[in-house]
Amino acid sequence: MNPHLTPWTVQPEAFPSDGFISDRLEFLLNYAILAPSAHNTQPWLFRINVSDVEIFADTRRALSVADPRRRELVIACGCALYNLRVAAHYFGQHDAVDVFPDPHQPNLLARLTLRGSAETASEDIVLFQAITERRTNREAFRPDPIAEEILVELAEASAAEGAWLAIVTDDQSRQAVAELVAKADRIQWASHDFRKELAAWIRTDAEHQADGIPTRELGFRDWMSFAGPALIRTFNRGDNQAARDAEIASHSPAIAVLGTYEDDPSSWLCAGQALESVLLHAQSEGLSVSHLNQPIEVADLRPDVGRIVDRSDFPQIILRLGYGPSVGPTPRRSVHSRLLMQDPSKAPPH
Ligand SMILES: Cc1cc2nc3c(=O)[nH]c(=O)nc-3n(C[C@H](O)[C@H](O)[C@H](O)COP(=O)(O)O)c2cc1C
Repeated sequence: MNPHLTPWTVQPEAFPSDGFISDRLEFLLNYAILAPSAHNTQPWLFRINVSDVEIFADTRRALSVADPRRRELVIACGCALYNLRVAAHYFGQHDAVDVFPDPHQPNLLARLTLRGSAETASEDIVLFQAITERRTNREAFRPDPIAEEILVELAEASAAEGAWLAIVTDDQSRQAVAELVAKADRIQWASHDFRKELAAWIRTDAEHQADGIPTRELGFRDWMSFAGPALIRTFNRGDNQAARDAEIASHSPAIAVLGTYEDDPSSWLCAGQALESVLLHAQSEGLSVSHLNQPIEVADLRPDVGRIVDRSDFPQIILRLGYGPSVGPTPRRSVHSRLLMQDPSKAPPH
């Protein structure tokens, strides 16, 4: 088995309940690193102190073309923070989170402190289970409708984290999103820099890589799987990508736009926690989910996303929801490789 897939088989029995707080925090990070991130960049770093863990943005892993403001990078770190919180609750740990605790360290996104014990709620158990089962699923979904109660549950999950979730199921809105995704694909793929950056994170030899997206996850077949990155760099496949995405988007039974009231780093961190909460709730209901964020990444198209769902504030993420075939996990870098030591000479990246 690919050693970079072993993080998905973390054993909860190994939780050091009688250990030091720092040992418990280090164990909880096994769940934080299973969070999703754009291109599977895993742009987080952690520093464990006596009774808290700090989450830093690893700006060396930023996608400077697709995500120049590092918005999606912070969202991914928010997802990791949410997993950390869910895992803490599952193991009966009471936590307190300070976001952006030090104005002099903008890359220090959050500090989670363990403060004694707390009772585990049944929802914590369900969400915890979903952390290791969640996958991004880029396959086509069956047209079966999603029950209204489940859609309401997802919107409530997002609202509980301070973000809104607008879900459309009617043909006209889904078609409008699909057209916008196709338009954004053509714009992004026309840029050589975009293709070069994407190609750098596509993995043909996924067994040996701890990050990036395996070609099989992108729906590349046969020879494309071997030549993928070179082809992406060299040719503008925008029309093919646009056609595939539009087809898949318009046939998904529901499309959800997750957004925030402001558009600053703390809103992005909040969006990330809301996103992971939505993804874990969706997983626990047996739903498959994947991303269609291209029209938000292309700044000029972002307001059009808001118009489709009747919002004038800030869309952050577009998801398609439905029931799809099962897909495999993507690799992860180990917790150990993501830890910052307490040695002050090893300062976190700026
Ligand atoms: C902020 C963010 C943006 C993402 N954008 C896209 C996207 O535009 N297209 C896509 O196919 N997947 C997108 N993803 C999903 C990642 O590619 C996926 O999380 C990563 O490859 C790891 O795989 P996993 O989610 O199955 O663990 C995004 C994820 C996050 C958190």
